Amino acid sequence: MTQPIKTRWSGRFSDAPDLRSLAFTGSIGFDVRFLHEDIRGNVAHVRMLGKQQIIEPEEAAEIERGLWQIWDEADANTLSFTMEDEDVHSGVERRLREIVGPVQAKLHTGRSRNDQVSTDMRLWLKGAVLRISGALLDLTNALTEIAADHVETVMPGFTHTQRAQPVTLGHHLLAYVSMFERDLERFQQTYIRMDRSPLGSAALAGTSYPIDRSAVADDLGFSGITRNSMDAIADRDPMIETLFDIALTGTHISRLCEELVWWSSGEVGYITFGDAFATGSSIMPQKKNPDVAELARGKTGRLYGHLIGMLTVMKGLPLTHNTDMQEDKEGLFDAVDTIVGILQILPPAIRSVTFRTERLAAAAVADFTLATDAADVLAKHGVPFREAHEVIGMLVRRCGDEGRTFDQLSPEEWAAVHPVFAEEIPPLTAAESIALRDIPGGTAPRRVRTALAGTHDRLSDLAAWHAREQTKMGNVMQRDSVGPQLEYPGTGPLSHA
Ligand code: ARG
Repeated sequence: MTQPIKTRWSGRFSDAPDLRSLAFTGSIGFDVRFLHEDIRGNVAHVRMLGKQQIIEPEEAAEIERGLWQIWDEADANTLSFTMEDEDVHSGVERRLREIVGPVQAKLHTGRSRNDQVSTDMRLWLKGAVLRISGALLDLTNALTEIAADHVETVMPGFTHTQRAQPVTLGHHLLAYVSMFERDLERFQQTYIRMDRSPLGSAALAGTSYPIDRSAVADDLGFSGITRNSMDAIADRDPMIETLFDIALTGTHISRLCEELVWWSSGEVGYITFGDAFATGSSIMPQKKNPDVAELARGKTGRLYGHLIGMLTVMKGLPLTHNTDMQEDKEGLFDAVDTIVGILQILPPAIRSVTFRTERLAAAAVADFTLATDAADVLAKHGVPFREAHEVIGMLVRRCGDEGRTFDQLSPEEWAAVHPVFAEEIPPLTAAESIALRDIPGGTAPRRVRTALAGTHDRLSDLAAWHAREQTKMGNVMQRDSVGPQLEYPGTGPLSHA
């Protein structure tokens, strides 16, 4: 017979747990990912217990020493957990008991795994949001740099997937930069909202010990403390908001990637991907496939799935803690890993793209994309726009039937279309048409340059915020909280033997 398993609630129970039940209810298989956050949260808590004389300062110091030893064991890959540890919180306490002995039992004073898991997840999520934001800044910078090279490169803009009016490639790319800028702001706002320490909420009602919540929050790099103990325990908004921010970023990425896929097809031929970021076919020797963009587009599906999954877990849950909420982790981890993976591959993949500017230029004026400009000339000379629309519509039909383009019409033919055209021939090149869109937010090169300057300033501000928080978190996730500035070790999977 094997030893019966002793659980942390064994005081009240006479039977040992069924192994199948332990395996089903445990979270150690995945929450080991925030081991560092758990240790750090323990350290902050026990330091405060010592300072407040809730336990002896010597006991607190001994417990802290043991906690840092576990940290080192994890880094040296010598720490191991088993299913009987149930979750990372219990696993850390079990190992701590092995290291420091019975004094370990004082660590859990004035605290519950409920406020502990809420704290650990927020700490982990702050690191994850910073990782995502950093990668998103890289992508946004890559797109902005490419846009700056193409302020005057003309291409067709589309509505209904039909050529509509000429735009510049720079303007088109800055449309995506606008989306990603909003995404960055959303991640920043989500970060600011989650940046509050739940510790002290205990199981749900707070605690009767004279703990110092603000000291713990400070030590962990939180900007403040949560306001209501019951909400702090029951709240999974930080995860849901992050999942939403990720899902919407995925939407934007899927639209960009769809365009890249389409632009690289032989039918369109606006771009070619660098060989290093394309893949071949096992049977068709001629194929060069835009797999990176396709996969980024496709992975958006699971990002949505994780958001809907989490919303559904939380729907209708009564206050406060319910074990359903343990389901907040795996989907979130996968969503974070997925979006970071996408955001890391896209900047180099997009930088490898060659734009075939001569094809873009030819397409910019194909299918009578200058028809609006011709109608505008009439309207500016007093012809009601509806009437002008009709005149140019008939001209488009006639030219289409005759297989001719606007720039092949003689001045006499223009004059015959409408007397106004005897005075002024409409724009016949994409560059002329684009230069006319000289309005804030428009595609005229002058305006695109202004937009680039504004983008640059805003991205610099976001990058400065990111660097500040990264440094703050890096300091928190170190032994002494005040060491040299290291990059936050972050969110990678932790191997456990
Ligand atoms: N393993 C749990 C989780 O992942 C930690 C919270 C446990 N609290 C409890 N009362 N069972 O959410």
